Amino acid sequence: MEMLGGRTIEDIRRDFPIFRNRPNLAYLDTAATSHMPSVVLEAMVDFEVNYRANVHRGLYPEAELATNAYESARAEVAAFIAAEPAEVSFTSGSTASLQMLAAMLGPRLKPGDNILVSSMEHHSALLPFKQIAVERGAMVTTVQHDADYRLDLTTFQLMLNNRTKIVVITAVSNVLGTVNPIADIVQEAHKHGAIVIVDAAQYIPHLALSVKEWGADAVVSSAHKMYGPLGVGVLYIEKSLGLTLTPSNLGGGMMLEVTSSITTFAEAPHKFESGTPNIPGVIGLAAATRYLSSLGWSNIIAREEAMTRLLIVGLLSLGDIAIIGPLTMDNRIGVISFTVPGLHPHDLATILGEQGVAIRVGHHCAMPLVSSIVPGGVARASLGLYTTEEDISRLIQGIKFARQTLS
Ligand code: ALA
Repeated sequence: MEMLGGRTIEDIRRDFPIFRNRPNLAYLDTAATSHMPSVVLEAMVDFEVNYRANVHRGLYPEAELATNAYESARAEVAAFIAAEPAEVSFTSGSTASLQMLAAMLGPRLKPGDNILVSSMEHHSALLPFKQIAVERGAMVTTVQHDADYRLDLTTFQLMLNNRTKIVVITAVSNVLGTVNPIADIVQEAHKHGAIVIVDAAQYIPHLALSVKEWGADAVVSSAHKMYGPLGVGVLYIEKSLGLTLTPSNLGGGMMLEVTSSITTFAEAPHKFESGTPNIPGVIGLAAATRYLSSLGWSNIIAREEAMTRLLIVGLLSLGDIAIIGPLTMDNRIGVISFTVPGLHPHDLATILGEQGVAIRVGHHCAMPLVSSIVPGGVARASLGLYTTEEDISRLIQGIKFARQTLS
């Protein structure tokens, strides 16, 4: 039995209250949202019942406790991704972070400029940048993946030019499970002076992240995919870029001075956080980073690799299943899309759901990618820290059962 930070998979399962309450649940939908361990819930409840107050506003003891906890959480989250605290702002999630970046960078675009994206982008990354391209008379061009569902770096290099102002790239595809070579992409894009925005929502629960090693200009992620709460996420903006950006979201807490004629913004990260933030969410997110760190990345990666192999072998053992994603383990994580000939993905998901096996089906908010491969959508099993051999076996048995039932 693999050990995670000296703990068995049974210990890990016990950390997650959902599995005590729903012992029959084979949860294979962690890419949509993960479950939360007790330590995350407890950190949030502690704030709610012991020192709930707004941050950066009150001078009474509870307000100071809340502000200290919030800023300590920022420092912890920054350390977790190898950033500086001033480079980390909190938003409601990756979608909000990407929209803010698009709104702040849009005014820099001129007609004929180019935004380069990959074929693997999620709608939350693609749509705001398509919109600003339309508004500014710029273009969005797409680097396609190759036959092995990996990004073609040579094509990427060829498509970069001096009109490329922004590159938007996912670090891990939420459909294919492919891990993209972000550091190489950033290096190439920077040769042309482009700003590189990385969507790390599906990367951060699976692999150690160093924004400094990537060298990216901006990185976004969501807490709820990394064992933290819903409704909170990270917007990393590299220091020198942050200095040049005018905030797109205006309101309380993000300015220094407001008169009838002038507004002076606070410095980063506060200028990117308008209004009251999701304080318990941020505290919960920091607890999630502590939980992940306590297990150790090499243990997490080894365990996930073993489960991913088992799932790929199990699916292939069914004979005619098509796996939509890399079949080898290098630069891939445990997000595995597949199709079952003769079965509509929605029928499959419904039958599996009745058996307590939770997967996601459809276009996975990445319609250009999925439609180009399987127009009707694909089934997707995505693994988490708590995935067991039994979960995988129940999925494989469930697919066999669905085929017998519907054929
Ligand atoms: N983006 C999330 C997913 O892939 C919701 O399921």
